Amino acid sequence: MKITFKTLNAVFAFILLAALTVSCSKKSEMDKFIDSLLSQMSVEEQIGQLNLHSMGFRSSAALTDDNETVKAVKTGNMGALYGFGGDPATMRKLQEYALQSPHGIPLMFGMDVIHGYQTIFPVPLAISNTWNREMVEKSARIAATEASSSGINWVFSPMVDICHDARWGRIVEGAGEDPYLGGEMAKAMVWGYQGHDDVFSDNEVLACVKHYALYGAAEAGRDYNTVNLGRQEILNNWMRPYKDAAEAGAASYMSSFNEYEGIPATANKYLLTDLLRDEFGFDGFVVSDATAVAELVNHGIGDLQEASARALQAGLDMDMNSDGFIGTLKKSLDEGRVTKADIEKACRRILEAKYKLGLFDDPFKYIDEEKVKTNIFTPENRAFARELARESQVLLKNDGVLPLSKNARIALVGPFANNASDMSGAWAMSAKASDNVTILQGVKEALGTSGKLTTAQGSKITAQPIRGGFGVGFTRNEGAGRGPAAPEKTNAQLIAEAVAAARAADVVVACVGEPNSMSGEGSSRADISIPDVQVELLKALKATGKPIVMVLTTGRPLTLTWEDENMNAILNTWSLGTESGHAIADVLFGDANPSGKLTTSFPRMVGQLPLYYNHKNTGRPHPDFEPYRKFTSCYMDVINAPLYPFGYGLSYTTFEYSPVTLSASSMPVNGKVTASVTVKNTGKYDGKEAVQLYIHDVYSTSTRPVKELRGFEKVDIKAGESKTVTFEICSDDLAYYNHDLKWVCESGDYEIMIGPNSKDTGEPVILTVQ
Ligand code: BGC
Repeated sequence: MKITFKTLNAVFAFILLAALTVSCSKKSEMDKFIDSLLSQMSVEEQIGQLNLHSMGFRSSAALTDDNETVKAVKTGNMGALYGFGGDPATMRKLQEYALQSPHGIPLMFGMDVIHGYQTIFPVPLAISNTWNREMVEKSARIAATEASSSGINWVFSPMVDICHDARWGRIVEGAGEDPYLGGEMAKAMVWGYQGHDDVFSDNEVLACVKHYALYGAAEAGRDYNTVNLGRQEILNNWMRPYKDAAEAGAASYMSSFNEYEGIPATANKYLLTDLLRDEFGFDGFVVSDATAVAELVNHGIGDLQEASARALQAGLDMDMNSDGFIGTLKKSLDEGRVTKADIEKACRRILEAKYKLGLFDDPFKYIDEEKVKTNIFTPENRAFARELARESQVLLKNDGVLPLSKNARIALVGPFANNASDMSGAWAMSAKASDNVTILQGVKEALGTSGKLTTAQGSKITAQPIRGGFGVGFTRNEGAGRGPAAPEKTNAQLIAEAVAAARAADVVVACVGEPNSMSGEGSSRADISIPDVQVELLKALKATGKPIVMVLTTGRPLTLTWEDENMNAILNTWSLGTESGHAIADVLFGDANPSGKLTTSFPRMVGQLPLYYNHKNTGRPHPDFEPYRKFTSCYMDVINAPLYPFGYGLSYTTFEYSPVTLSASSMPVNGKVTASVTVKNTGKYDGKEAVQLYIHDVYSTSTRPVKELRGFEKVDIKAGESKTVTFEICSDDLAYYNHDLKWVCESGDYEIMIGPNSKDTGEPVILTVQ
């Protein structure tokens, strides 16, 4: 038979139909099973499924009959547990208890697996700097494999909150400021955790997209704070990652702590139902953030009973740690405040998740004592962690001092030089600091025995101990003696030692920045500079006249204006996880060519915040790099431009971009064109380049940002070679939510720009939509 396009189409149509039929019949099987189960369950048992608690213990020895968790599990008052891992014996015992509950409904086991399980990857903000969808997906895949091997079947990730304000400590957990890039990263993570279909194999787990919604827009970067943005603004610039994650099939969402339009997200029907379910098509379950239901009382929307009823009716299905649902919903039902249908709807969604995971077929599917020994922290996983950590680093400045020669005399100084625990980054719950490769270790290994290396701590991290070092608690510090030394010496003494090392060296590598506890939850800062005691060290090193490479550890963009003027090179390494030291040494010595690019703008001064590249023009625009001019939109004391813009990052090689060409200069509203650019590697090193496509709607019925990212490709280009990168542009790439909140592509002219970062986008070409 001759295969024509037509016959192929028919074959595809048949396969699609068959797949749809299988998935429909699977759905109807699931519906039948759950209908029957629900009809047998008491209302108390249904409410029990809506209850999630954190585990207060890590070992099965604590699981005695009088333990409150055990009692709740046995009586069917617990739908899931979270906050532990690595101990299948505990999970097995708990699951056995769950099977003793009235209908033997298995538990789900959740955990904050944020950037790896035990093989710790770079923090999520760093990973987004790779602009590499495949690598991001693979990191989530490995995290899912490791976590599921220890019994976890539900991870509280990805965190997809857009953030414009580096004061917010949780900026470290997301993918930065851009909704398109945020959406691409969200999809990659969801697919990594869950796979690409709706069947969960035993190394695929439920993703939980958080924090829904708009948590990163907290006013003034203060954690948990109010959000004040209009609907058009959120739909265009903030909601896309949540929407993309739903379209990628994310199985669960976590409601956020903040309020929106005067209603806390956890009880906000517009967010939880009208948008998430009706607009974005999400059909899984929503869990509250920890104690968020109880916090509704503080927000002032009612007592715990009223708050719980409102949350349930708004679309929240599971209550984490508040005991609001378990404690009050039955009373609300008896009083007619909620209906049986409200409770059943939420319970159904949780049972569906358990069904999809396969727990009704095999409650012990994810619990396998053998896998703990074989699948976790493997050499392959660590090798990938190293690769990802190389690609997450962003070279912010380089006057030519980098890469370093392995023959140079190097002084490696600073409180992060030999600091294992702060390599993990915030939210690395199963990390062991003792597993982390320090920068010192990595550099020593790279140099081998012939290295001429001296080292000194150089300074404390902060002048005073950090109050409420919550983030530190999230890294199990099992590497005693592997943090900076106890501050027995004064800062002046520590500096003097580093200066002596610097004087005897050809080049200084100064490892400075923020410890893990300065970013993450509850770690907002009003001053986002490198702590003073470390800046004193940098100034003393500068006075030696030796070239200085600053290696920055941080969980957020910092104000680095002085550092940019005074350091010879700045390598931003964020927190790179287990393989930190190896990956940093790889870049310092040129064994890897840096290719990370920022996904957050770095301000010059904290007063510029909130700061983001995709801002509006205003009626009195002011060119980014020009000094103050009265009656234009600018500051008297700092220029508008960030110090380092969105999309920016240097390489050891250089890339040259050709002008952009379009396949056609106009298209109908529902048409398509391609935009191409040729990128030449004009330097001496092979390199990778994140090529970025931006658009600008010249005139539109509502105002539009000056630039918006609408595509990117990470390409490998050998020294001297060129590659043509082509982006397809369709009406969806040009569309936006208009004033009536309708998704429209308006006719008119659009500027199309392709470049290496959001600032250097070259001459725009015009695409006319007719
Ligand atoms: C955080 C969430 C986290 C949860 C459970 C909360 O405090 O906001 O991101 O998933 O705790 O640990």
